[in-house]
Amino acid sequence: MNHDIKDIALADDGLARIEWADRDMPVLASIRERFEREKPLEGVRIGACMHVTTETANLMRALVASGAQVALCASNPLSTQDDTAASLVRDFGVSVYAIAGEDMETYEKHLEAVIATNPQIIMDDGADLDTALHTTFTDKLQHVIGGTEETTTGVVRLMSMAAEGTLAYPVFNINDANTKHCFDNHYGTGQSTLDGIVRATNRLLCGRTIVISGYGYCGSGLALRARGMGMNVIVCEVDPLKALEAHMEGYQVMKAQDAARFADVWVTVTGNCKVVDGPAFENMKDGAIVCNSGHFDSEINLEWLEQHAVKKEEIKPLVEEYTLADGRTVIVLAQGRLVNLACAEGHPASVMDMSFANQALAAEYLRLHAGELENKVYDVPAAIDDGVARVKLETLGIEIDTLTEEQIKYMGSWNFATL
Ligand SMILES: NC(=O)c1ccc[n+]([C@@H]2O[C@H](COP(=O)([O-])OP(=O)(O)OC[C@H]3O[C@@H](n4cnc5c(N)ncnc54)[C@H](O)[C@@H]3O)[C@@H](O)[C@H]2O)c1
Repeated sequence: MNHDIKDIALADDGLARIEWADRDMPVLASIRERFEREKPLEGVRIGACMHVTTETANLMRALVASGAQVALCASNPLSTQDDTAASLVRDFGVSVYAIAGEDMETYEKHLEAVIATNPQIIMDDGADLDTALHTTFTDKLQHVIGGTEETTTGVVRLMSMAAEGTLAYPVFNINDANTKHCFDNHYGTGQSTLDGIVRATNRLLCGRTIVISGYGYCGSGLALRARGMGMNVIVCEVDPLKALEAHMEGYQVMKAQDAARFADVWVTVTGNCKVVDGPAFENMKDGAIVCNSGHFDSEINLEWLEQHAVKKEEIKPLVEEYTLADGRTVIVLAQGRLVNLACAEGHPASVMDMSFANQALAAEYLRLHAGELENKVYDVPAAIDDGVARVKLETLGIEIDTLTEEQIKYMGSWNFATL
């Protein structure tokens, strides 16, 4: 079996949507065209664990065009688009192992199926594939020349492996490329999280209060968009600098258990665990909608809710209502998993264009420089990051100024008299 998907008959719909996304991914398309000519990854086996969306499909197309053999599983059990998976198998020859709504046993079986292809490059989103390779499937490490990691949470896990000295291959930190986190995390998460909440609930947002836990790249982007929709924004943070930034931006900042009294909607986006916990639930406004846009489903303590609720009801798929002993209700979206990918389609193609351009170019770089790299987490080379920004600007038809010789000299000198 070289794939495990819901239904190959969905491929026509998937192909149409992949091509729609491609229209807004010109940087990646230009890389795909070059890869098609130059075949920089000819014969390389790539194992990817990513959200199976139309944008990811276009990354996979670029990798296939480069000559690579690609196996893909989902990085979240709820984020797979089954039609996209079908088209990837039928139209692009990618071995996809992903079915929307798969249980954890199937999720793990799919990870194993990708590992069974003996991948040489690991393309991960959250480091589940890397973790499985470093724990259960260590015999497969011999094939791996390196990896790339898409998201903040995955980078945190890999950094801790590197610090322990257990990381067995070099990994490029895609998340921290400027053309990734400044756009994907900030603008992408801002828009797609609200998209997920609206698609799941169809609630009017203006005039309502949103509590956002975490004011990092994702949370600050979400706050910006929520304010734009007319919401009152409250930020909960643990980092004093971030809290101060949120305050100066004009948002209210308070402790989670205090914010709970005001929350109509609550979004966690910290990468941490138990961010919404017992004390917050105890104070929570009746009917609050609680969801998560951080990588793992660890941010909302659902165990606490399960233990303290007297009733739990599925109102509709991915919208569950918990009734507490005092009669208050809490509505949880997407079982605490990424709301933007479970209830909507994830980030718009235009931002994923840059994230995935970095992925494709980092994979090419890995192939070229594998022997020279140590087993640590590397930043994406500045030439790649800056290059992605330049090509993106070109595709947007935006021209910018260039420094004159005199300006370059001025910026690099301390003694103006020598100019
Ligand atoms: N939804 C998506 O599509 C998407 C996209 C990109 C990243 N992510 C994920 O979102 C999460 C956040 O990413 P980021 O790039 O914004 O990270 P970040 O490090 O820039 O921001 C996280 C913020 O959360 C704060 N924080 C940590 N623990 C907290 C707590 N208990 N209460 C309140 N605040 C707390 C930190 O101080 C930090 O400011 C990660 O899990 C990342 O992988 C999701």
